Amino acid sequence: MNDYPFDKILVTGGSGFIGSTYIEKILKEYSNFEILNLDKISYASSPRTNALFNSYDNFSFLKIDIADRKALESAVLEFSPSLIINFAAESHVDNSIKASEDFIQSNIIGSYNLLEVSRKIYDSNDNFMFHHISTDEVYGDLLFDEMPFTEENQYKPSSPYSSSKASADLLVMSWGRTYNIPFLVTKQ
Ligand SMILES: NC(=O)c1ccc[n+]([C@@H]2O[C@H](COP(=O)([O-])OP(=O)(O)OC[C@H]3O[C@@H](n4cnc5c(N)ncnc54)[C@H](O)[C@@H]3O)[C@@H](O)[C@H]2O)c1
Repeated sequence: MNDYPFDKILVTGGSGFIGSTYIEKILKEYSNFEILNLDKISYASSPRTNALFNSYDNFSFLKIDIADRKALESAVLEFSPSLIINFAAESHVDNSIKASEDFIQSNIIGSYNLLEVSRKIYDSNDNFMFHHISTDEVYGDLLFDEMPFTEENQYKPSSPYSSSKASADLLVMSWGRTYNIPFLVTKQ
């Protein structure tokens, strides 16, 4: 087993599709870290994931909405992570077209709250990193015969979901530039 390069990992949205796969993989393949999953538990969460992970001593879970600044800040500061990996999002385009409010709260305000608490963590740990999970949908639509997007493409989000994710990306990049927080934005 290899050591994981971060000793305290805060995962948001770790009860969803991709976050739970990430947690499962690192729990099984790496050692020497603690992991805390914060998830509000929504229709998109898998009820079996926390039950599955609870057998690991280095895993814990708190039911928290990242849009709730107070609850979030207190949990994150107490855990004091060296890595925050933000999977939490309202993620279904069709739902965002029907009702966008939850997308603004989770995807934009939630990311903003995480960045603000990251500033406090980074003040006392300069090995800290913020890893934000984004989407290629920030680049807009692709016609069948067009070349795939690259990171050089311009942002052209075309739904409430993708514009909320694009907004969060811009916040992350600007918090990195303004407050020097080391960050990574992954688009899949
Ligand atoms: N699934 C895909 O095809 C895909 C593609 C590109 C990018 N992404 C991005 O990857 C990330 C994970 O996607 P997924 O498919 O696992 O999503 P998902 O909908 O399966 O899971 C999201 C999880 O986040 C939680 N969550 C949502 N809002 C929250 C909040 N305010 N506070 C705390 N928890 C909250 C939900 O309860 C859920 O457990 C998202 O950021 C999404 O935008 C997904």
